Amino acid sequence: MYDLILEAGTVLSQGKAVQADVAVEGGTVVYVGDRPGGAARRRVYAGGRFVTPGFIDTHVHFRDPGHPHKEDWASGSRAAASGGVTTVCDMPNTDPPTVSVAAWEAKVATAQARSRVDFGVWIGAAAGAVDAARALADSGRACGIKVFMGASTGPLLVDDATLVTYFEHTRALMGVHAEDEAVLARLRAEWSGRIPPSHHATRPAEAATAAVRRLIELTEAFPRPVHVCHVSTAAELALLEAVRGRLPMTAEVSPHHLWLDEAAPLGNLGKVNPPLRPAADAAAMLAAFAGGRLDTVGSDHAPHTLEEKARPYAQAPAGLPGVETIFPLMLAAVRRGEFPLERVVDACAGAPARIFGMSRKGRVAVGADADLLVFGEAELQVLTAEALLTRVAWSPFLGRSVHPKPDEVYLRGALVASHGRIVGDDVRGRLVGAELA
Ligand code: DOR
Ligand code: ZN
Ligand code: ZN
Repeated sequence: MYDLILEAGTVLSQGKAVQADVAVEGGTVVYVGDRPGGAARRRVYAGGRFVTPGFIDTHVHFRDPGHPHKEDWASGSRAAASGGVTTVCDMPNTDPPTVSVAAWEAKVATAQARSRVDFGVWIGAAAGAVDAARALADSGRACGIKVFMGASTGPLLVDDATLVTYFEHTRALMGVHAEDEAVLARLRAEWSGRIPPSHHATRPAEAATAAVRRLIELTEAFPRPVHVCHVSTAAELALLEAVRGRLPMTAEVSPHHLWLDEAAPLGNLGKVNPPLRPAADAAAMLAAFAGGRLDTVGSDHAPHTLEEKARPYAQAPAGLPGVETIFPLMLAAVRRGEFPLERVVDACAGAPARIFGMSRKGRVAVGADADLLVFGEAELQVLTAEALLTRVAWSPFLGRSVHPKPDEVYLRGALVASHGRIVGDDVRGRLVGAELA
């Protein structure tokens, strides 16, 4: 007997749309096609609605351990599930930072106990910590090695010599916050004691391009997969375009770099690293995303409280929440005709699964985990704080017209969210590793 059959939906996966039933057993998709024979414990009619793989957000900062007043595994993963994100990868700039085997294992244990979605855990790069990355990432237990080339939130930052050590002594996927610390330090000194016209003025495109140039040199010298996090400028796009197909480099975009720019009247709520850019950069990013030149969407979910954001500019922390608004924003853009739904499903599910080696994720196909979203073409609605489950309860997109959250979200066949609300207290996420070739 099947556990679940989703009947007659439009199944969108791997670039194809077919009207089909999807049957699930033991958390796995076991059949996609016309009417499967046999009984099911649960049947859901999906006629006239889409069935897609659950979204994978490989870039969240859940603040656990360290700052549970901003977010923790329970609140962050509930937000994720409600917004159709069934797998998250958590960043290492927690407190303590995830740069040792012990810290990584402790975080995995917390997530196993509290997460409502499946998860990967990044191991952070730090001077003297390369052995932990070898043990965890090169073995496929950690989803990748996170490198901060420029200082952002938290103490994680590597100098060039350390970065080279990682290129020499590890081989797993490296995810990089690419802003050049020398450029940032020079501008910090220049703007010290003065209020800049925008956050972008203190961390301009030049900081990002200097870092991406160095990454390209190192990837040429020591080829291995490098995923450039939150690309935000036309200049970075040009650099990456020139090596596309030749070097194993891929690129992530965050929704705030597609639909917000430095002129957005957000004050410190819009303070984020890398910064919101001039409108021309956002337009170039949107065109690149539509054209398939940006591989994945990562929210860079980095919650800080409204109280923290109300401090003066220099003291306000950088970062904004976003794990639960990927789906609403992407679907609204589809509605506006900015790109097709197939593009969204690839960038939010197919591509992250391929790039991160999550062999059971990212597609609706026999043998894959039954992480599934069901949704129809609903009216857009104004995003309000009441719709949000993140502990900080705000979004830089409040007031925008967005698509509602998915009608149903399944994690390995179990219903975990319905119309933005969490259901089922007993479902817990599992660690997703990278299956290395
Ligand atoms: O704005 C940011 N916030 N950029 C980062 O790199 C880190 C993040 C955070 O953790 O708050
Ligand atoms: Zn970053
Ligand atoms: Zn980040």
